[in-house]
Amino acid sequence: MPTYALGSNDAELARLEAQAAFIAEPTRVLLQASGIAAGMRVLDLGTGLGHVACAVGELVGPGGEVVGVDVDPHMLEVARSRSAHLPHVRFVEADVTQWSDGASYDAVVGRLILFHMADPVGVLRHHLSAVRPGGRVVFLDFDIGGLRSEPANRLSDELTSLVMTAFRAAGADPVIGSRLKLVLAQAGVEDVAGLGIAQYLSPDDPVGPPMLSAVVRSLAPVMVAHGLATEEDLALDTLPARLAESLRSTGSVIVPPLLVGAWGRRP
Ligand SMILES: C[S@@+](CC[C@H](N)C(=O)[O-])C[C@H]1O[C@@H](n2cnc3c(N)ncnc32)[C@H](O)[C@@H]1O
Repeated sequence: MPTYALGSNDAELARLEAQAAFIAEPTRVLLQASGIAAGMRVLDLGTGLGHVACAVGELVGPGGEVVGVDVDPHMLEVARSRSAHLPHVRFVEADVTQWSDGASYDAVVGRLILFHMADPVGVLRHHLSAVRPGGRVVFLDFDIGGLRSEPANRLSDELTSLVMTAFRAAGADPVIGSRLKLVLAQAGVEDVAGLGIAQYLSPDDPVGPPMLSAVVRSLAPVMVAHGLATEEDLALDTLPARLAESLRSTGSVIVPPLLVGAWGRRP
C-alpha cells in the first residue's frame, strides 16, 4: 500500500482545505490556460479532497465527465460530498501508480501528486496510454525552492529547511515544479508549455505562519522518525503563535512557493 508522507488525519485534511483555498485562483488560471474545455472526459490523479476534480468539473460542464483517483478513503469521502452538486464528477479509490480502467480520456490532470511519486515519469507514461491521441496532459505542482522569509527570519528559515529535508527523506520531490515541463517531455508529452504563479503575502496577512506550521505538523512524524527533530524541538501546539511573533519581531513576510503548471498533448 503506498503511503502519503503527510498522512490523512483531521489536521492534514484541514491543512489541505486551507492550502486549496490559498491556491484556488492560481489553479483556475493554470487550468484555463492548459486547454481543459467544455465536454471533455478528464482523469484527475491524486484528487485528495476533490478540489481540482470540482474545478475541472465546472470547466468541462455537464456534457463532460471527471474521474478523480485517490488511494485514501478519508480524502474521497470529503471529495464525494464536495462534488455532490456535480453529477458528472465521480471518484475511484486506487493507487495511481497501478490503476487503469481501460477507458479513453480527453485529458489527464493532477495537482500536487507528482511531488509525492518516486517515479513521476513512470506514472505519467502509465496514464498517457489512457489519453486519446492529441488529448491534453496537465500537471500542477509546487516548486518549494523559493519558499523563504524576507527579510530573513531565523525560525521561519529553519522550519523551511526542515520541511525540505523531511519531504526528501519521505521520498518526495519538493522542487518538482522547477522540472515539471521536463518531466512531461520525458514521459513523451509533446508541445509542452507552462508557467508558474507566485502569490506574495503582505506582512499583516495572517495565513503565512499557520500554513508553514501546518506543514511542519503533518510532517512531524517523518521528522521524528528520521531523527531530524524531536517533538520537544517542534513544540507544535505553540508553533503558529511563536512563528507569527518571530516574523513580527523581524518585520518579515513568508514568501510562499510557486505553483507551476505544465501541459502538452499526447502524440
Ligand atoms: C498533496 S495531496 C493533493 C490533493 C489534491 N490533488 C490537491 O491538489 O488538493 C496528495 C494526494 O495524493 C494522494 N496520493 C498519494 N499517493 C498516491 C497514490 N499512489 N495513488 C493515489 N493517490 C495517492 C494522497 O492520498 C493525497 O490525497
